Amino acid sequence: MFFRTFAVVLIVNRKIKVLIYMINLVLFGPPGSGKGTQAEKLVEAYDLLHISTGDLFRFNMKNDTPLGQEAKRYITKGELVPDSVTINMLKARVEETPDVKGYIFDGFPRNINQSEHLDKILAERGGQVDGLLMLDVEEKEIVARILNRGKTSGRADDNDEEIIRNRFQVYQNETSPVFDYYDKQEKSHKIDGIGSIDDIFARLSDVIDSL
Ligand code: C5P
Ligand code: MG
Repeated sequence: MFFRTFAVVLIVNRKIKVLIYMINLVLFGPPGSGKGTQAEKLVEAYDLLHISTGDLFRFNMKNDTPLGQEAKRYITKGELVPDSVTINMLKARVEETPDVKGYIFDGFPRNINQSEHLDKILAERGGQVDGLLMLDVEEKEIVARILNRGKTSGRADDNDEEIIRNRFQVYQNETSPVFDYYDKQEKSHKIDGIGSIDDIFARLSDVIDSL
């Protein structure tokens, strides 16, 4: 994939323009499937910028910003924050990081509308989603993992089984169609999300290196 990270120099109207080809990955899968854990490792290996919309919301909630207050109303119930809020937040983050080689999107897009907006945001930078990597983990395992994470994460939405099941339900109803959306563009890849952190990282790397 590194061969695809190259620059094209164009002369337009006697001005030199440099277009850098980006590599953009969507790390996908239900809550608790290991996206954050794997993103940390992928960032180091591939020199991409990690954008986790969940982390951005939590940062805003911690600092009690207006965006954080708005997001909290939904997150505490395990529901999706309205698209207008989420998409603008994501767009701002992409626009303030013009020099990156590419992104790992984690927790975004969460529905088809968000996917269409992501495509537009990247197209404005001459980029696209190059691959969607889905970590496949079943509901029973998800609930156990999140309840376990809840012991230390300090997240209210990790500590209540009903909220966790609602998050999984939202994933199935609204988010899982995103896999099909990118599958139609032959960009979606399903990876077994059960195993050691290193084994799963190796599976992800195999797919990324084949892109
Ligand atoms: O991605 P993560 O699981 O950390 O997100 C935590 C919560 O943030 C979600 O359960 C949801 O309430 C909210 N969220 C959202 N839309 C996104 C990402 C996260 O509503 N694109
Ligand atoms: Mg996460």
